[in-house]
Amino acid sequence: MGSWPRLATRILLAPVHLAAVASASRSFGRNPFLGSDRLNRWGLHARRVAVAQRLAQHRRERLAPALPAADREVFERDGILVKPDFLPPESFARLRAEIAALRAPAREVVQGDAVSRLLPLSPAVLERLPETRALVTSPAWRGLLDYVASTRVGPLLFIQTIYSHAALGEEDPQTVLHSDTFYPSMKCWLYLQDVPAEDGPFVYVPGSHRATPRRLWWERERSLSWRQGDDHSRRGSLRVTPAMIRRLGYGEPVTCAARANTLVIADTYGFHARGPSSRPSTRVALWAQGRRNPFLPWTGFSPTTVRAIGDRQAVLFWKLTDWLAHRGLGRQPWRDVGVVNPMDPPLGQGATSPAMVPGPMPAGKGSATPVAGTPKPAAAVPPGAAPVP
Ligand SMILES: [Fe+2]
Repeated sequence: MGSWPRLATRILLAPVHLAAVASASRSFGRNPFLGSDRLNRWGLHARRVAVAQRLAQHRRERLAPALPAADREVFERDGILVKPDFLPPESFARLRAEIAALRAPAREVVQGDAVSRLLPLSPAVLERLPETRALVTSPAWRGLLDYVASTRVGPLLFIQTIYSHAALGEEDPQTVLHSDTFYPSMKCWLYLQDVPAEDGPFVYVPGSHRATPRRLWWERERSLSWRQGDDHSRRGSLRVTPAMIRRLGYGEPVTCAARANTLVIADTYGFHARGPSSRPSTRVALWAQGRRNPFLPWTGFSPTTVRAIGDRQAVLFWKLTDWLAHRGLGRQPWRDVGVVNPMDPPLGQGATSPAMVPGPMPAGKGSATPVAGTPKPAAAVPPGAAPVP
């Protein structure tokens, strides 16, 4: 595109980009206001972080009665909760058995040498998973997830499978410590299998969900140097080195090696990573994600609180991104792989399935074993890598 058409497009899109400053929009590279050196020198990015934190705190105070005080205390301190033996053993056995037998539409993305598969839990799929449906509609589950997400709009729900060392690529970019976005947001895993240290369990830096004065200084610095960063950081998911984590005053990363039936729920504004896997592995979990415009002071009032819309969020999101990508207005890294079982070998483009033929979902029991550890140092992230929706 020549310079005049580009200028015209910029002028036409300026109101949209300006309005996005008060939204969850996070890409420095795609929004000239968010990426503006002048505005960020004046503190635009750091201010967005600070305001989003404050509003999330107010929303959580209103959602607090839905979970036990002990959980709230640990979460406020660490930004993460690890709950071993989350379900009664019989319930967990039924839940795992119904998911192990499931065949449903799925999508996959290849990131570095890892393949991620998501099976959205649409109403039609949940209809076939009575134990899972009972869990995700229970007040205790919703109360916990809503509190961490700081919203009652309801999470996106999936069966997630992560295949490590399953593609011919660089190191998995998700193994680099990072913050998902500039505002408090939620991710949650109920592991259906044991995830020992060598299979790349979740890694989290306790306390890094808090935007301390040092963190806000770092946010401001990064908002002024995003052009030199990797592709993820340019899109607003900032990568961080272990040395910087220490400089910011946070503790050492903790590796959440866990047994099956462990629930891990975290504020992914806090620094986290997928632990490095020392061998090819397959991890299956009931997975949820909760994000919303962080500048809304209220906890509800969203189209997604209408059940028919909320239950179909993931499918509707993918349809919209398909439509945009088809018209050259975006990209859709999540490839449709048809109807599969969560344990089927990876099928997406770039996957190398021969080394990855998992057997049936193995049984596991017992408790989570948080283990102190240090993930691999930061590495370059290939431009094709993509976050989950
Ligand atoms: Fe992440």
